[in-house]
Amino acid sequence: MSIAKYSFRTHGCGELNAELLNTSVVLCGWVDSIRNHGGLIFVDLRDRSGIVQLVSDPETPSFEELSRVKPEWVIKVEGIVRRRPEGTENPKMPTGEVEVLVSSVEVLSSSKVPPFEIDENINVDERLRLKYRYLDLRRPNMMKNLIFRHEVALEVRKFLSANGFIEVETPYLTKSTPEGARDFLVPSRLYHGKFYALPQSPQLFKQILMVAGFEKYFQLARCFRDEDLRADRQPEHTQIDIEMSFVNEDDVLGLSEELIKRIFALASIELETPFMRITYDEAMSRFGSDKPDLRFDLEIIDLTDVFKDTQIGVFKVGNDGIIAGLNPKKVFSRSEIERLTEFVKEEGARGLAWFVKENGELRSPLLKFASEKEIYDLNSKILPDSTLFIMAGERETTLEILGKLRIELARILELIPENQFKVLWVTDFPMFEWSEEEKRYKAKHHPFTRPKEDTLVYLDSNPLKVKAYAYDLVINGVEVGGGSLRIFKPEIQKKIFDFLGIKEDEAQEKFGFLLEAFDYGVPPHGGIAFGLDRLIMIALGLNTIRDCIAFPKTQSGTCLLTGAPDTVSIRQLKELGIEIRD
Ligand code: AMO
Repeated sequence: MSIAKYSFRTHGCGELNAELLNTSVVLCGWVDSIRNHGGLIFVDLRDRSGIVQLVSDPETPSFEELSRVKPEWVIKVEGIVRRRPEGTENPKMPTGEVEVLVSSVEVLSSSKVPPFEIDENINVDERLRLKYRYLDLRRPNMMKNLIFRHEVALEVRKFLSANGFIEVETPYLTKSTPEGARDFLVPSRLYHGKFYALPQSPQLFKQILMVAGFEKYFQLARCFRDEDLRADRQPEHTQIDIEMSFVNEDDVLGLSEELIKRIFALASIELETPFMRITYDEAMSRFGSDKPDLRFDLEIIDLTDVFKDTQIGVFKVGNDGIIAGLNPKKVFSRSEIERLTEFVKEEGARGLAWFVKENGELRSPLLKFASEKEIYDLNSKILPDSTLFIMAGERETTLEILGKLRIELARILELIPENQFKVLWVTDFPMFEWSEEEKRYKAKHHPFTRPKEDTLVYLDSNPLKVKAYAYDLVINGVEVGGGSLRIFKPEIQKKIFDFLGIKEDEAQEKFGFLLEAFDYGVPPHGGIAFGLDRLIMIALGLNTIRDCIAFPKTQSGTCLLTGAPDTVSIRQLKELGIEIRD
């Protein structure tokens, strides 16, 4: 469909080609660049559909007007499409065979000199890009990212609708949803001292929609989380949120695989299904991460057995501890090892032990403390001409730091290939995690996640061994989705609340409405939510999700375009019953 339909132009700039030779056209757009060539004037005119070359010479009445225009002015021109003279075609431009001989020019609006050139090949400071986002979005790459986003949203709606899903909107002004981040709060004008919470996800509502009998729900839902920001985290993000009734885990994963495959196909990336599945425990022990990047190997080696009777002080770990390492095939220098030691210390490690094997010889400051058997065992494990980095300590933390070191080593050794997509499910997440900060167990996903009943026996003796029907989708080391089957039996829900120390009245106060709904016939159900921004970032190979969000916040949570967050008038505060203290 021509971009010119329903407008006062006849064609889009990028739509012109040799089939339209001698056609009279009306075009509108922004002046991209101007070249004055000995009497002839050339202007590249840009609209969303592309760029076309306009030309005028002093013989034509349009010449004077076209000579006057400046970059980013908005103009309307009339002219005739003609073939570019031989030798002046531009095969790099889709419209490069033709140009428009302009007969009349109307300036619709002028422009100040923009703070940066509208050229995607120019590196512009991101803060400037965000302040003048409307100029940044004029750059073809940014436009392309947002058009792709639109196509993904369309495909998601088409695919899910064709599979019987109904899109239902859930409220943005609501009560707190437990997803583990801080809430953004909106003060109520009518009820002073009361607040709406912006939803961290539509979780509770989508479960209620299952009680209501929708059976297959989805929503492209904006979610709000007040947490520390990163390249792949924004205070508001969009989820492809899904919930289904009468399903088991394979049903949710199967549907998800089809959906993800289609999204990536839009970027001409073919993903093979079924996706690989590994359990959380395996992901942690092999890669030190619940979102492992499988584009490279470098797996963690468990050395606990090698050092079980060791005299090496730093390797003495209790029964719950682990001694494990990474063995990149490179002989690292002392200074490189020192740098890596600093790296792991910043991640919370006490230190980093190392053994180098070079020309068949083992070297390490620890060698003199190691037993013959330990040296023999190490020698059989360590690759020739390599370094074995070893850490010892509490299992989960040690593995997590090794996981980070794994990524750092891959970065240093340039092990991460481009244009590869390694997709996997991580399943069987633990139901709980220990919060060192709060000195208590918390739900790892959320307290409505269904535990695997055969693991509930560990609830009192070893709660970390209780597993859940919870799964994450990971692509190239990024968590792009997560979900679970939900508890639908009241006695199990009570058990979980009791364990988490959520008292009856607290449960009633926080999510009584959900629990009450469950008294009226609740189907077994489960679901998942994908981070739309993250999926697009990966499919398009972007470095940050900000590049596929029209108006994102900075890393420090501000909007440089509008100046949000901002102060409000005393009158507004008064109406809300709010007083600001320093
Ligand atoms: P979860 O919290 O795992 O699950 O979120 C689902 C997916 O949303 C994306 N995501 C984010 N993207 C950008 N910025 C953020 N701040 C951000 N936070 C999350 C991630 C993540 O995998 N209600 C559950 C889903 C369910 O159980 O059905 C939920 O929200 O890609």
